Amino acid sequence: MKFHLILYCSIFSLSIMCPSSSATYPENDDKTPADPYEINSHLFPGINLGNALEAPDEGDWGVTIQDEYFRIIKEAGFQHVRIPIRWSAHAEVDSPYTVEINFTNRIKHVINVALAHDLFTVINIHHYEEICQNPSAHKDRFLTLWRQISMIFQDYPPELLFEILNEPHDNLTPDLWNQYFSAALEIIRQTNPSRTVIIGTANWGGIGALSALDIPEDEQNLIVTIHYYEPFQFTHQGAEWVAGSDAWLGTTWSASLNQVSEMKNHFNQIKAWADDQNRPIYIGEFGAYSRADINSRRLWTGYVVNLCRQYNFSWAYWEFCSGFGAYDRTTGAWNTQLLGALIQTP
Ligand code: BGC
Repeated sequence: MKFHLILYCSIFSLSIMCPSSSATYPENDDKTPADPYEINSHLFPGINLGNALEAPDEGDWGVTIQDEYFRIIKEAGFQHVRIPIRWSAHAEVDSPYTVEINFTNRIKHVINVALAHDLFTVINIHHYEEICQNPSAHKDRFLTLWRQISMIFQDYPPELLFEILNEPHDNLTPDLWNQYFSAALEIIRQTNPSRTVIIGTANWGGIGALSALDIPEDEQNLIVTIHYYEPFQFTHQGAEWVAGSDAWLGTTWSASLNQVSEMKNHFNQIKAWADDQNRPIYIGEFGAYSRADINSRRLWTGYVVNLCRQYNFSWAYWEFCSGFGAYDRTTGAWNTQLLGALIQTP
């Protein structure tokens, strides 16, 4: 892989302010697959721009992505952003399942701004709840969404990564998921032969379904993503979307011997699988909700980041400026405790 100087502003005809005159990007002229370990080394520190484009409509959940967010994120020391996207709410329900042009343009704009700020950018299909409830009825639509997304972004640089589906669950069982992601991958490869693709696990993206993941041997240009929210009663205490979670309010995380050893145990499980399968790992979501006490959140976040560093896992904190937020968009200030835990000096 070579490094080229690319003038993003001219390439994308951006209607935005360019951060600087030029930036250095790896470019893959000969379309040979990138080295996913090399790409993965750029995916931390990272942060999710959650609760924005994966809401039914951007803004519905309080967050509308502002161009300046990317400057703020970059200046804080992050190298990449993950942008969850609910494509399924912006495409025709029936064949040919065309994605709305205005939505596509909005996504292009957001990605262009992220890349122009030298941030590696992960996009996905997020909150396609219907396919998790009724997989066979939505398979064709899901694959057609990927056909469109792949074509739209086929000429984008390797700093743009595709993640096939956020947290498959329920009726999209581990077995079915193996079939569905392989089919999506085949479609993506028709137009994006060299792009690094990210695949998560079934059963909500956690460690549990890692051993069920069956990735085609000949597909080496992949990164495997795991979401880490353990202990769930701690990270999701008081979360309005988790029934019964008010009862967990007050759960602390103090880095006790047991807590740390449980966390290490989880990371060891991931590492053992990754070594055995020779796949790079991306902790694409982790975070503790704002109703947990800040000291516990800071400690827990710092421990996750440290373990990721030890094990060479990349990561993206969940999330930038909403309920788990490391940044307060109303005051324009970072939560210094969380930011300190995330951006640690080696
Ligand atoms: C979901 C979010 C949720 C977060 C933590 C994400 O995958 O998309 O809605 O807030 O996990 O539960």
